[in-house]
Amino acid sequence: MSPRISGLRLPWQAGEMGMTAARASEWRSGRIMKIEEEFVVQVDTLGVVGAGTMGHGVAQVAGQAGYEVRLVDSASEALAVGVGRIEKSLGKLVDKGKLTDEDRQATLARIKTSTDLADLTAAGLVVEAVVEKLEVKRQVLSELDRVCPPETILATNTSSISITRLAAATSRPGKVIGMHFMNPVPLMRLVEIIRGPATEPEAFARVEELTRQLGKTPVEVHDSPGFVSNRVLLPMINEAIFCLYEGVATAPAIDEVMKLGMNHPMGPLALADLIGLDVCLDILRVLYDGFVDSKYRPCPLLVKMVDAGYLGRKAGRGFYTYGEGDRLAYHPADGYR
Ligand SMILES: NC(=O)c1ccc[n+]([C@@H]2O[C@H](COP(=O)([O-])OP(=O)(O)OC[C@H]3O[C@@H](n4cnc5c(N)ncnc54)[C@H](O)[C@@H]3O)[C@@H](O)[C@H]2O)c1
Repeated sequence: MSPRISGLRLPWQAGEMGMTAARASEWRSGRIMKIEEEFVVQVDTLGVVGAGTMGHGVAQVAGQAGYEVRLVDSASEALAVGVGRIEKSLGKLVDKGKLTDEDRQATLARIKTSTDLADLTAAGLVVEAVVEKLEVKRQVLSELDRVCPPETILATNTSSISITRLAAATSRPGKVIGMHFMNPVPLMRLVEIIRGPATEPEAFARVEELTRQLGKTPVEVHDSPGFVSNRVLLPMINEAIFCLYEGVATAPAIDEVMKLGMNHPMGPLALADLIGLDVCLDILRVLYDGFVDSKYRPCPLLVKMVDAGYLGRKAGRGFYTYGEGDRLAYHPADGYR
């Protein structure tokens, strides 16, 4: 399957705008010229900014779907870790017989890394997946706006920040859109597609189509704090943390109640560890500020754990420990046991 998107500047030869040699030869032979009339073009390059929990997953699924991927992170160590995680994930798929070794190698070959946003000029669409901080995202989007051609769609994977506010950091608010992937990206089918007031219908349609090409299901949501997913999910996680904080039950007991009683595949505290406790706190703060409503106030225990660096799986400890040895649970009164 070849990725396809419309409305982008046409490349002339291999190497330009992510043009592959085969596609360039088709272009020169005139086969793509017909499509040009409607300004529709094959785009082979997708940019991803941020190689963390989400960004590496987006890069992986885009690579598997046949896109040339440019994965950019300001930290070279994060790129090395992200690529390592992609290698591990693809290796598991091969072991399970869900991917051939040839496809694994081809996917890895399609993913190139960089620490420079200027390497994203060939991308028809860039997914921003940096930390959930308004100012960092606005700075990254404004820089992308400067280096990318005007047709490039700038998608943000923000969990909760206003698309409207992020779009205002660019000169192309019509081409800024929310593409909210779920964690872990290779496994989760949903992508919430968030439309800001300025988002052009064409940009929305292209992103919907791209989402399907990545093997995901797009669901349309309008711009509002936390969108739908996190506005519903985070208050539940926060309430579970309050239960732990107030000594109503232990972390494993709270998770067990929600797994066995509500048929959730994992408990809310284990899920918070998977999401990242810093990410959870950032989202709650966006809900709290966005609605100016105390029902979204973050539990003091969550704030304390983030301050302590107990950020969940990525830090090796959160409400549980991860890594070597038995899994321990966090008890507010006396730590891990
Ligand atoms: N973790 C989740 O479960 C989840 C789910 C859906 C959406 N999100 C959203 O995805 C985004 C990323 O979250 P994450 O969990 O992957 O975070 P993360 O902390 O794992 O990764 C963020 C990455 O961004 C990089 N970064 C920071 N500033 C940068 C900059 N200026 N330029 C380039 N790279 C920069 C960091 O080095 C890091 O590697 C956030 O907006 C988050 O809200 C997270």
